[in-house]
Amino acid sequence: MTHYAILGGRRITRNITHYFLQLNHTVSCWARDRCSPLNTHPIAGATERLRATIRPASHVLLLVSDASIAKLLQRYPFLHHKTLVHCSGTVCIPSVAGAHPLMTFSHELYTQQQYQQIPFIVDAGHAFDELLPGLPNPHFHISAEEKPRYHALCVMAGNFSQVLWQAVVDRISAIGLPPSTLEPYLLQTVNNFVNNPDAALTGPLSRGDQNTIASNLKALAGDPLEPLYRAFLELYRSSQQDGKTGQVAL
Ligand SMILES: NC(=O)c1ccc[n+]([C@@H]2O[C@H](COP(=O)([O-])OP(=O)(O)OC[C@H]3O[C@@H](n4cnc5c(N)ncnc54)[C@H](OP(=O)(O)O)[C@@H]3O)[C@@H](O)[C@H]2O)c1
Repeated sequence: MTHYAILGGRRITRNITHYFLQLNHTVSCWARDRCSPLNTHPIAGATERLRATIRPASHVLLLVSDASIAKLLQRYPFLHHKTLVHCSGTVCIPSVAGAHPLMTFSHELYTQQQYQQIPFIVDAGHAFDELLPGLPNPHFHISAEEKPRYHALCVMAGNFSQVLWQAVVDRISAIGLPPSTLEPYLLQTVNNFVNNPDAALTGPLSRGDQNTIASNLKALAGDPLEPLYRAFLELYRSSQQDGKTGQVAL
């Protein structure tokens, strides 16, 4: 079992701490706010608190905001005496390896089985079992050059879909339908994609149904969703040209 020190004070810190304890690792935590309930050593003085937190640990996870990872290392250079890992999907710092958990962390904690399924995307050149010993998670390596593009794609897949769903729910509610109306449809859409991505798309794009597409665009005139609809049409057309989908050409 490994002793991990975990630095940071937000949702990912709570989740990772919870998971590592489920795996019977020892964990000590540090947040810059002395009053944070996450602190293992709620003593005054951030530096002394940090020294006490990392002392028994072999590995230190830097779960602070992306912009603060380098600043934290500058401020507390003694951190370099430990094996350091950050979990950012975009940051590349030569002295610290990155292992990005491809997951969204909410206020709700997950089950051990859910945590174990999270893939970690690791900076090339670093062995996962040396960075995060005792973690049974799937893991993959990418180069520093690919990392920004990888993260941009994750943002689009996960965050953009949330923005779109929220905008649609707002409009569905304005029509007078309960927001929950969409739930079975959305859940099935995700399931179908996971089970068979190539056959999951249904609706006017996959049918090449120009009349319905024209009607949809007319109905959205003046709404910020209209240019988004057109952008998706364009994306769909270009992925068809690339042979990425097997549906009818528009
Ligand atoms: N959230 C996710 O779903 C998720 C998923 C994968 C990876 N990550 C990565 O995990 C890391 C943490 O992300 P997050 O979403 O939990 O939180 P975040 O909002 O990115 O970071 C906030 C945390 O950083 C602390 N912090 C900021 N500047 C600091 C400094 N100079 N010294 C010490 N602590 C400082 C904040 O302290 P205060 O509370 O005192 O402000 C707060 O606890 C990031 O690298 C992020 O990319 C997050």
